[in-house]
Amino acid sequence: MIRAVIDTAALRHNLTRVREVAPDSRVLAVLKANAYGHGMVAVASALAGADGFAVARLDEAIRLRAAGYTQRIVLLEGVQGAEQLREAAENCLELVVHEPGQIALLEAWRGAHLFQIWLKIDSGMGRLGFRPGELPAALGRLSDCKAITRPIALMTHLAEAELKDSERTRAQLECFERLTAGLSGERSIANSAAMIGWPATRTEWVRPGLMLYGISPFAGATGVGLGLRPAMTLESRVIAVRELVAGDRVGYGGAWTARRATRIAVVAAGYGDGYMRNTANGTPVLVNARPAPIAGRVSMDMLTVDVTELPQVAIGDPVILWGNGLPVETVAAGAGTIPYELVCRVGQRVHIEVC
Ligand SMILES: Cc1ncc(COP(=O)(O)O)c(C=O)c1O
Repeated sequence: MIRAVIDTAALRHNLTRVREVAPDSRVLAVLKANAYGHGMVAVASALAGADGFAVARLDEAIRLRAAGYTQRIVLLEGVQGAEQLREAAENCLELVVHEPGQIALLEAWRGAHLFQIWLKIDSGMGRLGFRPGELPAALGRLSDCKAITRPIALMTHLAEAELKDSERTRAQLECFERLTAGLSGERSIANSAAMIGWPATRTEWVRPGLMLYGISPFAGATGVGLGLRPAMTLESRVIAVRELVAGDRVGYGGAWTARRATRIAVVAAGYGDGYMRNTANGTPVLVNARPAPIAGRVSMDMLTVDVTELPQVAIGDPVILWGNGLPVETVAAGAGTIPYELVCRVGQRVHIEVC
């Protein structure tokens, strides 16, 4: 009943928008976390025009190779251990190198394969990467390393690129610029927000994720407002309609009480499908393409909406939880989270339909 409809034309359109925003950059399309819940293999097919793919984990990359994709694939967390390094070689994967143990693995490599690596610099994100003081030693070791091709690519990640004005972002960019001056490798800085909001980050490679899925990285904005099209529409149906009188309570904990004669539609979508339980009452869904507010607590398989203003609503009517006509950004705000989390949560139970 519930399904996530993935619009491949929207994905292609969004890639075109990426190229319009950063015409001089090559594009690593970020497909991690099952392409942000959209279905990695199908998304890879729609985005085959990108210059490469980026994933977080080895098994994601191997799945792409097994599905026949021959594009460049970058492992954003690199490899953990010699066995993973061997599999990365077998699958011709490119490696982010972010800590000394990963250099040691490359130094110990005796195979014929030469790895393209992306040296990750921590310019202030405080998560992965070599800090400024650690960089000379890392570069020194890599210059003697026989397992890699040259020049090595250089990358960093921004902590708050979604803020249009940020002293920290300026400091990160200045730090990366200073540390990489004089090095010959290609550079990659930008996620979606950086690409749009910080032109200086449109270097040789950009790494958009969210934008490709048609979603805005900026609070208070929607993908549609940025010229993007939503790639995922989460749809279900009404499975019951009930008439309530004032004072009747709805759902677990009786968290919503009718103040007047009310019609409630029960929709087959719940937190077991990835629709967040803490979504606030009043957050809209579309029933027959018209907005109706959530009334009562979201449960595992169902949620309840007030359709008093939509008297025609009947069992079987189509419901859109987010996507076409209802930005996922709006629903994320109602759930007190970011749209990344909503799309990534779309559960195992949701059938993905690619069109
Ligand atoms: C290293 C790196 N680059 C790029 C991205 C893509 O970011 P976004 O989805 O905000 O465009 C991510 C995603 O979290 C990331 O971890």
